[in-house]
Amino acid sequence: MEKKAYTVTAALPYANGPLHLGHVAGVYLPADIFVRFLKLNGHDVAFICGSDEHGAAITLRAKKEGIKPQEIVDKYHRIIKDSFETFQISFDIFHRTSSPLHHQVASDFFKKLHDKDTFKEERSLQYYDNDYEQFLADRYITGTCPKCQYENAYGDQCEKCGADLSPNELINPISTLSGKTPQLKETAHWYLPMNEHEDWLREWIQKGSIDGKLLHDPKTWKNQVIGQCMSWINGGLRARAMTRDLDWGIPVPLPNSEGKVLYVWLDAPIGYISATQQWALDNGKNWKDYWCKEEAKDRKLVHFIGKDNIVFHAIIFPILLKAHGDFILPENVPAYEFLNLEGDKFSTSRNWAVWLHEYLENYPTKVDELKYVLTSIAPENKDSEFTWIDFQTRINSELADIYGNFVNRVTVLIHKYYKGVIPSAHELTTYDQKVLDEIATIPGKISDLLYQYKIREAQQEMMNLARIGNKYLADEEPWKVIKSDPLRVETILNVALQITEQLALCSRVFLPKTADLLLQMLRIESSTWDNKLPMISGGNTIGTSTILFEKITDEWVEQEKSKLITSPTTNSNYPIMKELISFEDFTKMDLRIGHVIAADKMENADKLLVLKVDTGIDERTIVSGIAKHYDTAAILGKKVVVLMNLAPRKIRGVESHGMLLMAENSDGELSALISEKDFGAGPMIS
Ligand code: MF3
Ligand code: ZN
Repeated sequence: MEKKAYTVTAALPYANGPLHLGHVAGVYLPADIFVRFLKLNGHDVAFICGSDEHGAAITLRAKKEGIKPQEIVDKYHRIIKDSFETFQISFDIFHRTSSPLHHQVASDFFKKLHDKDTFKEERSLQYYDNDYEQFLADRYITGTCPKCQYENAYGDQCEKCGADLSPNELINPISTLSGKTPQLKETAHWYLPMNEHEDWLREWIQKGSIDGKLLHDPKTWKNQVIGQCMSWINGGLRARAMTRDLDWGIPVPLPNSEGKVLYVWLDAPIGYISATQQWALDNGKNWKDYWCKEEAKDRKLVHFIGKDNIVFHAIIFPILLKAHGDFILPENVPAYEFLNLEGDKFSTSRNWAVWLHEYLENYPTKVDELKYVLTSIAPENKDSEFTWIDFQTRINSELADIYGNFVNRVTVLIHKYYKGVIPSAHELTTYDQKVLDEIATIPGKISDLLYQYKIREAQQEMMNLARIGNKYLADEEPWKVIKSDPLRVETILNVALQITEQLALCSRVFLPKTADLLLQMLRIESSTWDNKLPMISGGNTIGTSTILFEKITDEWVEQEKSKLITSPTTNSNYPIMKELISFEDFTKMDLRIGHVIAADKMENADKLLVLKVDTGIDERTIVSGIAKHYDTAAILGKKVVVLMNLAPRKIRGVESHGMLLMAENSDGELSALISEKDFGAGPMIS
């Protein structure tokens, strides 16, 4: 029977920060395991991902780091892409939504929907920040959630109760830019009237069919996914704006729409399509075979996502795909719950996270160990928890004691008794046969589980092979039998090696590095998934054995735990803390107390003062933007903290050497920092 072809996508991560283990366990690793399995099992698969480089997530991060959005996405795209590669997540392409091809594809997509009257253009009042001259969509606005009263809900979503919100529903809205209460101002946008799509969505989600034509079996969808979608639909879908007033994103391809871009949740999923197009171009394929109704009519489209993405992939994107008309709809949307860390939610802003790229830098050889642990605790049906103690336990008492130990015992004995030459099996006992029969069923079991997205249980089946192997050796005791019946030991070790081989083959989807190592040691070629054993025959020589998994020490656990220090979150009006810096970064700054010994206004500039500052080692000119808060008389004679080694800059023709540091409150008032004791000018701040 011809095997089904697949297009598998994994949610495009925002290029606004590195990946943490929560992302990996709840999207990318399950997707990778599924795809590795499909490919080994002879399916034609394209595995698509890339970075999501538009939207408020990016511009707000850029503002926080004080660099341009393009620099942010370049920086994090690289970090994310590299860490996926090192962690051996086997995407066929990891593309990016800032690419010209994507801009073109998303723009054409929007245009086509517009021409088909899919959207409704509407004027409405939206919150606006007068200081920043910007509309406040999505994360640019926070306030109290009308549903659960959580005080820091975003304009598009409450992270506490999961409610989908629009900025106008927030109680006490606050601009995240100025910290002030925003004003309402009129603007026009294109809306997707989702309410008009409720009927077919109901049929599609509950029955798997459209207009009576069966497209998928809804029993294969996770209950949570169907449940969430139905509660949305039953609550009544609303029109949702598909454009934003923002200066970062894909420009709306229509006349009179300056300053407007596509809503990031419209453009990002189209990124799956544009990424596939790029991959097809690079590899001599036809992208339509992966996406289009005609060419891909027998193909399954599967979106791996986290649960916060369900509505976008199971409701909004399908509406868009169907409205467009050329595309297939997802056959399944396996959504994962959340992974927590040591008793708390992963949080980028509080720095409560284990970062994938840091883990890989510190432990470059421990890729499979991390994969094993994350698969064991994958948040398949409910939230789960990562702790370093559990990490240690699973590696030491499962990977090392069960898996590693079994492989090691077999290979050591074969080297000891036969100098590494594989002994032949002679007469098989009923127990031998039972073991061989049992291990032959395991690839099939794994395959059944993986088609149902049950990666945890599937990995356990792989571990069962090692358990069966250990039990077999313990029962047969070849190290004792060798004295009385050496011929029997040949059979025992041949059988044990068959188990090892099966273990290596089944490990290919979960522990690819280990599998490669073992296959190489056994000198067998990787084969397709359902190939029948036995293939091990006597006479070949196996490679030398190595310790597959080293144990994780207590010091290791302590060290990792001590790295987890939260940065305090504030609900205040002040900007959130910047990224952590190293002590070395800090010591690069030369900070000293200076005395302001002369102060003049800068001509034709109402914010700037030209100061002469005695720094104890020199007298220097510093141009400072404090004129609105200090007149020349008020700053004269003040002690101030000076950043000495800031590269000189010309400001309005005057060279400024350094910078004054001041405290700024939420009303924008400034205050010079004053030392308690009078040390005079020059002392370093340290
Ligand atoms: N960047 C989004 C997130 O991290 C996911 C985008 S998935 C896509 O939640 F479909 F829009 F691409
Ligand atoms: Zn809420």
